[in-house]
Amino acid sequence: MTDTYESTSMRDLLCGSVDLTMIGERISVCGWVAKRREHGEHLAFLDLRDRSGVVQAVVDGSVDVRGEYVLRVTGTVSLRPEGTVNERLGTGEVELTDCRVEILSAAEAPPFQIDERAEVDEQVRLKYRYIDLRRDKMQRNLRLRATVNATLRHAMERQGFCEVETPLLWAPTPEGAREFVVPSRLHPGEFYVLPQSPQIAKQLLMVGGFDRYFQIARCLRDEDLRADRQFEFTQLDVEASFVSQDDIFAFVSEAVLDAAEAVTGQRPGPIATMTWAEALDRFGTDKPDLRFAMSLQDLSGVFAATEVKAFAAPTVKAIRVPGGAEFTRSRLDALTDHAKSLGAKGLAWFRITSEGLDSPLARFLNAHESAAIAAVDHAQVGDLVLVVADEYVAACKVLGALRLTIGAPPVSEGPHHYVWITEFPLFEGLDDNGDLVSAHHPFTMPHLDDLDLIETDPLRVRSQSYDLVLNGWELGSGSVRIHRADIQSRIFSALGIGEDEAHSRFGFLLGAFRYGAPPHAGFAVGIDRLVAIFAGEDNIREVIAFPKTQSGTDLMTGAPKDITERQIRDLRLRVAPKV
Ligand code: AMO
Repeated sequence: MTDTYESTSMRDLLCGSVDLTMIGERISVCGWVAKRREHGEHLAFLDLRDRSGVVQAVVDGSVDVRGEYVLRVTGTVSLRPEGTVNERLGTGEVELTDCRVEILSAAEAPPFQIDERAEVDEQVRLKYRYIDLRRDKMQRNLRLRATVNATLRHAMERQGFCEVETPLLWAPTPEGAREFVVPSRLHPGEFYVLPQSPQIAKQLLMVGGFDRYFQIARCLRDEDLRADRQFEFTQLDVEASFVSQDDIFAFVSEAVLDAAEAVTGQRPGPIATMTWAEALDRFGTDKPDLRFAMSLQDLSGVFAATEVKAFAAPTVKAIRVPGGAEFTRSRLDALTDHAKSLGAKGLAWFRITSEGLDSPLARFLNAHESAAIAAVDHAQVGDLVLVVADEYVAACKVLGALRLTIGAPPVSEGPHHYVWITEFPLFEGLDDNGDLVSAHHPFTMPHLDDLDLIETDPLRVRSQSYDLVLNGWELGSGSVRIHRADIQSRIFSALGIGEDEAHSRFGFLLGAFRYGAPPHAGFAVGIDRLVAIFAGEDNIREVIAFPKTQSGTDLMTGAPKDITERQIRDLRLRVAPKV
């Protein structure tokens, strides 16, 4: 009757496990009172809940227990009387009768109902997270997360990777976000930095001969929080020596596809690759959501010598919105405002009707231009075509954003479409000082065919860095690293990092490289994001036990908060008055 994982000295099995095979047996279960219903004067029904589900216990009406009391109930498993079977419940055909009820803990009325259907304000949920965690959804999500972690770890071990823990009290790391700092008591006036990722540590492990490293690593970044960003998050962090980009793709794909299979029951096919340039051109983003089509079409050739002022730009791109001819004027105005807020000069729209194009701009187009618009992406009557004319990158990005606004299904819907994005540019632009900015981090190896461009045309240099994208979310990033001192110093000088600065920021890494650095490459998967998509949640808070709010506070503990005078003294800090 009992399962070794369920039974303890206090209970025989979990509430949700009680079933017809146990009729007549006397068993003990423990849990929280999910519901109490009176039945006549002398009887009450209690739904007792634990992590596995609920079971009904028929108890004496005089038993003084209310919602969320913690009980141990010992009773006889009995068939429910005819007509009282609850089809919606796993244990709906049985109940416990002739019960002895032990109150293990009394409970005050909870601040909200623990019911999947109850709409509860998120602030309240977070303040009483320990109660929120009793809800089915949170139980499901955190268990899913545990399955994902276990599967990833197993897949990495199977592939010969060794898990190494790296320090949390550390020095600055090169990810580029603001860092959390920790004052040192023994070295007053000096600070540790919490790692934005184990990036430098894992590269040092390569020098140390751990040629296949992984870690389920906690990372900390003091950045603005969003649906897919928390201060603290977890990566499956990977690094390997004597490997190419393709080897990294194989290792990481194996782990991620194993996790997908473990939670969905189906193994997705091999993950395709797409260059960064193609992703921008076809989807207007480096994180294409491939669950739906609406890819960007190029009309630049058609409008090269146009008389229409709105379209006189280096690039003219269009998307077809299936069925979009029905969009109201106010929806089209809202899309136009959205496009403008993204930097577009305007947005042209064309309804495809049986009488031709319907648009304020239609009468300005020549026949060739009209025909091209009517044929965008095999448009049909009833569709809408949106057109943006601008510089190349701007036109792609604006239409890419509109494509998502109009077409992206909710996170919980649609198949899972993974794609590797490759050949990112090495530099993403210039900073305020006119220095180049790394698109990934300064240890990323340039594409070997582009080495000559580093000094002459740096923005055209492709890198050996890559992202894994799932349904429009960046799941992870990585790169082949620079292990050659000559290339590293050319990159530092392009980034405006002088020798002294390089030495003070990354001296220990550069120093280590002098003692025999193997060629190496790596990757990090954001586990919070992966689990959120598997769980169909659009905010990673829903898959984290104790997350921070949007404004970075922990409503349950009250953190961040004041520390004691004594702590301030010990750390030799001077705290400025609060503003
Ligand atoms: P990167 O900075 O791109 O790369 O981070 C890798 C992945 O970590 C996740 N992630 C986050 N998840 C939640 N909240 C955040 N604030 C947050 N920031 C990042 C994302 C992201 O894709 N050291 C490199 C990896 C490498 O080169 O090996 C790194 O950390 O899913």
